Amino acid sequence: MRHVRVIGIGAGNPEHMTVQAITALNSADVLFIPTKGAEKAALAQARRDICTRFLTRDVHTQEFAVPVRRSDADYTETVNAWHAAIAQTYADLIATLTETQTAAFLVWGDPSLYDSTIRILERVKDMGQVAFDYDVIPGITSIQALCASHRIPLNLIGKPVHITTGRAASTEDFSNGASAVVMLDGEQAFNRLHEHDATIYWGAYLGSAQEITVAGNLAEVADTITKARAEARAANGWIMDTYLIRTAKDFDV
Ligand SMILES: C[S@@+](CC[C@H](N)C(=O)[O-])C[C@H]1O[C@@H](n2cnc3c(N)ncnc32)[C@H](O)[C@@H]1O
Repeated sequence: MRHVRVIGIGAGNPEHMTVQAITALNSADVLFIPTKGAEKAALAQARRDICTRFLTRDVHTQEFAVPVRRSDADYTETVNAWHAAIAQTYADLIATLTETQTAAFLVWGDPSLYDSTIRILERVKDMGQVAFDYDVIPGITSIQALCASHRIPLNLIGKPVHITTGRAASTEDFSNGASAVVMLDGEQAFNRLHEHDATIYWGAYLGSAQEITVAGNLAEVADTITKARAEARAANGWIMDTYLIRTAKDFDV
């Protein structure tokens, strides 16, 4: 049966690649690499660099354009339609494999965290156009990269961790002592949070040569982050940033 490997490649440093990921990469006959857009181009280059560095055999690379998401309808409806289009793209790619071939998707960070490769592959299976099975190789997430760069534990002692998006963050309560990680934030939601005595640990392009980090009291460093973010985005044409917000300390009750 055709086999697909979903390989977590880490969040920006080729050395995030685990031994398991390198072995999986070298077990594939074809690598499916997404392209398109400034951000996608940079990420496609990072994937190519990983291939150059870790492939020990000849593996065919198949680049493909990721369908573009419409933004004119309801969020859920838009994402659903977008995933349907990507599922068809994946089905067509997988159909190019022979019955005994293995292909791999190189997924940024870890495939379980704000990534839809797994749910889209399930969708492709449900479509019934092409038979295949798949496995998942875990990767280092941008959250781990953020914590490592700031030399902080993710959670406070005995306290929970909340992971959310910029879109949801502005309506959430950050004052309960949990550590809150905000991802996919194009709106700098930290500027709208009410917890001004919180501490923020922010990082962009984590793990890469362009990495920028800022940490401190939210009210004091918010402008510095906004400025650094805008400048870096203008210089590079894209940005990926993540931050952690805390309103308490270890041993606070
Ligand atoms: C679609 S999600 C993918 C997350 C990925 N699967 C992971 O494990 O980190 C993309 C978001 O992850 C975060 N991200 C990924 N790589 C990053 C990096 N190198 N530096 C900062 N944030 C990053 C950003 O919040 C970005 O908007």
